[in-house]
Order: sequence, then C-alpha cells, then structure tokens
Amino acid sequence: MSNPSEEELIHMFKGIPFTTRSSPELLKSLETFHAREDDLLLVSYPKSGTHWLAGVITKLYSTQVTLTSPIEFGDLSKLEELNKLSSKRIIPTHLDYNMLPPNFKKKKCKMIYIARNPKDTAVSMYHYYRDNPNLPTVDTWTAFFDLFLKGDVVCGSWFDHFLSWEEHENDKNILFLFYEEMKKDLPKTVKEIVLFLGLNISDSDIQDICKKSSFSQMKSDTEKENSDPSHTVCTLTSNRKLIFRKGTVGDWKNHFTPKQNQRFEEIFNEKMKLSKMAKNLTF
Ligand code: A3P
Repeated sequence: MSNPSEEELIHMFKGIPFTTRSSPELLKSLETFHAREDDLLLVSYPKSGTHWLAGVITKLYSTQVTLTSPIEFGDLSKLEELNKLSSKRIIPTHLDYNMLPPNFKKKKCKMIYIARNPKDTAVSMYHYYRDNPNLPTVDTWTAFFDLFLKGDVVCGSWFDHFLSWEEHENDKNILFLFYEEMKKDLPKTVKEIVLFLGLNISDSDIQDICKKSSFSQMKSDTEKENSDPSHTVCTLTSNRKLIFRKGTVGDWKNHFTPKQNQRFEEIFNEKMKLSKMAKNLTF
C-alpha cells in the first residue's frame, strides 16, 4: 500500500495548511465556540514543548481539570464533546491568534503561549514529519528546510504564528514562556506559571513537579503508558512515543549547514525586525 498523498493529508483553511485530522467544518465552527471564563488555553506552534507544558500544568492542578485534545482537532462532534465537560477545561491549540475562537478573547480566558527558537523547532518538526504517517513524506532535511522557511508546513509560518501572538504581549490574560528558559531553570518558569494561575503550591511541591517533568522522566512515563489519544496535545499524532525525541537546545547545529544558517538568519532578522520578544529566543 502506498503512503497517502499530500492532498489526502493536508488541506488549506484561511491560507494555513492543516492536516485532515482537523475538519474544515470544525475549523469553521470555532468562530462560534462558547468559551468559559475559567478555560485555560495552552498555545504553541507545533514542536515547541506543548506536551512538556501540558505535563507541568496537569501536575499543578492534579485533579478537577480535564486536559482536552487541541481545539482544532477532530470533526464537528468535538464541540459537543467539549460542551459536555464539567470540570475546568485545559485546552491546547496551535491556532494563530487571528484564528482563535473570538469568545476566548471576549471572556479574557487565561492563555499560556510557549515559544521555542525556530531553528530547533524546524529540526524537531523535520524528524516529526519523517516519523509520523499523518504527515506528508519529506525526503531530505534540505527539502524540509525550504518548506519550513516558506511556511509550507502544517500550521503555516513559524514567524506569522509568533508575531500574531506577540502583538498581545501586554494582554494581562496571556503569559509568554520560552522553551529554552524552561530548560535553563524549570522551577523559575513553574513559579511564574503558579503566580499567573493564582495557585497556592509549596516550593517543595514545585521541586517535585519539576523532577517529574524532566525529559527523561516524561519519556519513560510515556513508554510505560499505552498510546492514548486523550493524552496527546498535538493535532498531528495520537502516538505520544513520537513526541519525546531529544529534548535539547541547539540540535539545529547538527543539521544546519553554514549556508542554511546564514539564509535562516537573514530571513529571521528581516521578519522579526519589529519584534520585541525575539530577543528572548535563545539558540
Ligand atoms: P525534540 O524533537 O527537539 O526532541 P511538542 O510537545 O510541542 O510536540 O514539542 C515536542 C518537543 O519538545 C520535542 O523536541 C520533545 O523532545 C520536547 N520535549 C518534550 N518533553 C520535554 C521535556 N520534558 N523537556 C524538554 N523537552 C521536551
């Protein structure tokens, strides 16, 4: 049996490539989605540490919350499913700000945006494309590098995604986090999250949560679990084992040629020239 064709796996919605696991009907109906004031959104461009963040957040709440699959994942029945949940909903999403259901904005729901430097994000996504049967085939890193820079990958351009959210950097209901900061000092980031969410968690519990959220611990927990779609917070797979690959900063150095790096930097500097938050991205 041959692999599904690109057309069978990808469709465009408002100019952004989505996998067919996000139905056009669902994407359209998100416009009228009913948010609740206590919904918490976990926002990211794919491969930025979404599962890591979700792991931390669910440990902070321990009970009384439901981590859903991404809001844009599934078909129309998704909305009904979300409406039925009675507990506090923690809802992941890869949508850019402009596509977010307006009701979340109106109700000023809390949102946490996690960003990762785009070079490592590109490398992580490349491996994900290669290992994931729900995504089109890519033959080489060189081919993927071009697609990534053009924004011709699922969820579109990293730059557009980041910039659409950065415009809201001063919104009190949005907390911006960086993957590299989390790697450097996880307890510090967790304390920021605790403060933002208004939780009361002791320092020793925070230390314990950080230990349980290390890459090696999360990877080995996943290896013990069965692949359960309800544990996946990415629209691109239901298989958690594909998520925990390397978990480091700077893997791009093992992939980028000097020429690719130069090209990437030129595009980065041009696209991010008005960005204030770009300085927080460490490579
Ligand atoms: P790599 O492919 O570079 O290893 P997402 O959850 O958004 O799909 O992001 C996946 C990336 O986050 C993968 O990057 C994965 O290894 C990394 N990751 C997941 N859990 C992590 C953790 N606890 N610590 C550090 N990185 C983690």
